[in-house]
Amino acid sequence: MISLKSEREIKAMMESGAILASIHQALRDFIREGVTTADIDRFVHHRIEQAGAVAAQIGYEGYKFATCTSVNDEICHGFPSRYQLKAGDIVKVDFCVDLKGAISDSCWCYAVGEISEEHQRLLEVTKKSLYLGIEAAKVGNRIGDIGHAIQSYVESEGFGVVRDFIGHGIGPTIHEDPGIPHYGIQGKGQRLREGMTITIEPMVTTGTWQMKMDKNGWTARTRDGGYCAQYEHSLAITKEGPIIMTEQEL
Ligand code: MF3
Ligand code: CO
Repeated sequence: MISLKSEREIKAMMESGAILASIHQALRDFIREGVTTADIDRFVHHRIEQAGAVAAQIGYEGYKFATCTSVNDEICHGFPSRYQLKAGDIVKVDFCVDLKGAISDSCWCYAVGEISEEHQRLLEVTKKSLYLGIEAAKVGNRIGDIGHAIQSYVESEGFGVVRDFIGHGIGPTIHEDPGIPHYGIQGKGQRLREGMTITIEPMVTTGTWQMKMDKNGWTARTRDGGYCAQYEHSLAITKEGPIIMTEQEL
């Protein structure tokens, strides 16, 4: 069931999203060679609590960390660990902030030191695909329009779109209806309505989009070892167009 949010609920989610965005902004300087993914998790967790909010991923379906930190060929749900980032790595940091029951969700991809030109392009294409998806997220359009905007662009750039993980409704809980695939057919799927709050979070791969699951039952990685990038925003659908509730400052 899709729940439509009031203006008040959207305002609360925007406050939650502003905290989340400010932490991503701080990560730009924090993430560098030698930092471990556990350091990133501690940094984010501390900042969430400093802001008077709660790290919503802890305990969610048994997940144990404030963040997912997914490196290189890991698609998503990477566990923070003692792994030390090195030049050439890319790391996706994904987390949810719960401010008095209003949840926001955003993932950002960070380059560590110099990365290859191909991976630089992967990051740029993935980020642009997110914004193309957001542009399609307007009242009257359908969910398939979002996926189509993302998929057609990503594939025209020679990259793959992950199918096994999709965007979602969000609100008092992390995952709500509807699902938002990052692939799809124009004009298909449910209509977007004023008051829907959703995430768009394309995972884009240099090679195959097919995944394999780690033994931990959580971490997905590309089947061929190609790198994967991801950017995610939480959005509110309004008559005036989508509001990006987790937008960062430049
Ligand atoms: N932030 C993730 C998402 O984009 C949620 C991961 S589920 C968790 O949907 F259990 F890892 F938190
Ligand atoms: Co999400």
